[in-house]
Amino acid sequence: MSRVVYVNGEYIHEEDAKISIFDRGFLFADGVYEVAAVIGGKLIDNDAHLRRLERSLAELKMGCPVPVADIPHIQRELVEVNLLDEGMVYLQVSRGVADRDFSFPKVEKPSLVVFTQDRPVSSSPKAARGIRVISQPDIRWARRDIKTVQLLAQSLAKQAALSAGADDAWMVEDGFVTEGSSNNAFIITTDGVLVTRQLGTDILHGITRRAVLDIAKQENLTIEERPFTIDEVHAAAEAFSTSASAFVMPVISMDHKTISQGVPGPITQKLRERYIELAMESAT
Ligand code: PDD
Repeated sequence: MSRVVYVNGEYIHEEDAKISIFDRGFLFADGVYEVAAVIGGKLIDNDAHLRRLERSLAELKMGCPVPVADIPHIQRELVEVNLLDEGMVYLQVSRGVADRDFSFPKVEKPSLVVFTQDRPVSSSPKAARGIRVISQPDIRWARRDIKTVQLLAQSLAKQAALSAGADDAWMVEDGFVTEGSSNNAFIITTDGVLVTRQLGTDILHGITRRAVLDIAKQENLTIEERPFTIDEVHAAAEAFSTSASAFVMPVISMDHKTISQGVPGPITQKLRERYIELAMESAT
């Protein structure tokens, strides 16, 4: 079935949707995006995603063609018209169309594209068995806190993982894990301490990361926000990643070394269940 998508003010079928070859998102990766999960036709943590969109736009001095407060209306319209029960809504703002020039256009007319994707998120077979990750050098730019569409380094890292027979890559810089190809990385030490890298310009400030840390606090887990090494991952009791597209995803090996006896750990499973419960309760 052909989806209805949103392109610059119009709701149209995907085969009719067009963006100019001069769009700066296409030519310069001069665009930012957000992905919000949908369960039961409702958006998960959407306000937080839109706040991060505003921050990404501000950091790049980019406008938005509609007030950000109007975006939920577009997202809901697409969820409804495409009868989306579970999956995600992707939205992308780019600096728009201009003749190719490194400097910003004098008159900017940003583009907004929104579409839905149908896929299981709350009950994924991968979450039940856990995923295997490999380490990959983090070759990205220095402002990973801005959610830009320049995702080639992440795509290469993910593909390297698949080619190696694994499911995902955890990126490593100066001996420390930064984050996953499209998720934040966590370990739980044998002392039961939850460790994840602190916020900064070297990782994306994950919305799911924040929610899971809040749950961990409620569960009285000790939390350390600091960098951790591959050796610490190998020695960990449990490991997992978080993202809007996979929620809490157990990690059962890194670089072919087994973690948590090769099965999803109990704390990880508890955090996943609790996250899904709370996300569904507060979905909009
Ligand atoms: N990716 N780190 C990176 C590099 C990411 O691309 C993502 C999300 C995250 C997790 O952020 P959040 O919890 O807000 O989804 C961390 C999305 C899902 C994607 O690109 O499809």
